[in-house]
Amino acid sequence: MLEALHYILADSRATEDDRVDTVSAPTAARRTGDAATRGLSLTIRGLRKSFGDNDVLRGIDLHIPAGQFVTIVGKSGCGKSTLLRLIAGLDAPTGGSIAFGEQRQQGDVRVMFQEPRLLPWARVLSNVEVGLGATRNSPDARNRADAALIEVGLDDKRSQWPAVLSGGQKQRVALARALVSQPRVLAFDEPLGALDALTRIAMQRLLEQVWTDQGFTAILVTHDVAEAVALADRVLVIEDGRISNDILVDLPRPRQRGSAQLAALEGEILRDLLKGSEGAFEL
Ligand SMILES: Nc1ncnc2c1ncn2[C@@H]1O[C@H](COP(=O)(O)OP(=O)(O)OP(=O)(O)O)[C@@H](O)[C@H]1O
Ligand SMILES: [Mg+2]
Repeated sequence: MLEALHYILADSRATEDDRVDTVSAPTAARRTGDAATRGLSLTIRGLRKSFGDNDVLRGIDLHIPAGQFVTIVGKSGCGKSTLLRLIAGLDAPTGGSIAFGEQRQQGDVRVMFQEPRLLPWARVLSNVEVGLGATRNSPDARNRADAALIEVGLDDKRSQWPAVLSGGQKQRVALARALVSQPRVLAFDEPLGALDALTRIAMQRLLEQVWTDQGFTAILVTHDVAEAVALADRVLVIEDGRISNDILVDLPRPRQRGSAQLAALEGEILRDLLKGSEGAFEL
């Protein structure tokens, strides 16, 4: 049961590397309740990850300023999920370091996955309370879970069982569970991949809204390049175990889906992803 909760929470713990290699110029980000400063910056240096002789990540160097919205794209199997798992502390690197702008505390880094991973035997509100981890028995747990449900527009479903919710509603509960601990870094591993097109666009708007409201640092892995450019301050392309392209998306929000500027950026990234692979490949 405890193991299951840990898996569902994906609540990351600081690794030895993080404690040793602190960022030299920490940002002013603090848990002040001030949305504009709540995110944590992170600095990745020479990050490597191998599984046996499969060298998946071969030297990732990256600085993400506090509160930035970063999206990560790349071919299937290039190591996107591996990178997220390392950032979240769910797996240990083979080499290199990941350091946060400040000492990371429990609940500071959360991951949301493609599958909502709700507990079927717990009602919606209790599922959100699970996101509080060790503090889920505190007196204000219920109020905090209620606030998170309001944030995702699902307060009217608080007493429902997960089984009666639609796929999009389940993902909103999963988002509320991730938000309830007020994370400072929220990593998303294709969280909208299983949703239909309209629900997906609604969820993209919700993600952007909660990110604007709460000011966490967002790292979103997606296969959908249109989604990547619509949401990101910055799009990273991973290829051959490294960051092959780092594209700033300097467009005002809210962004006009289907605009010429977004389409041009999307085309540029797609061409980059497709280059050298004339045959079919999975994105
Ligand atoms: N626990 C593991 N043990 C062994 N190999 C692994 C493990 N996790 C990932 N890999 C391998 O690492 C590589 C990268 O996997 P990863 O899941 O990070 O890719 P991805 O970019 O997220 O792909 P996708 O877009 O299909 O989700 C793959 O070759 C995969 O087989
Ligand atoms: Mg993946």
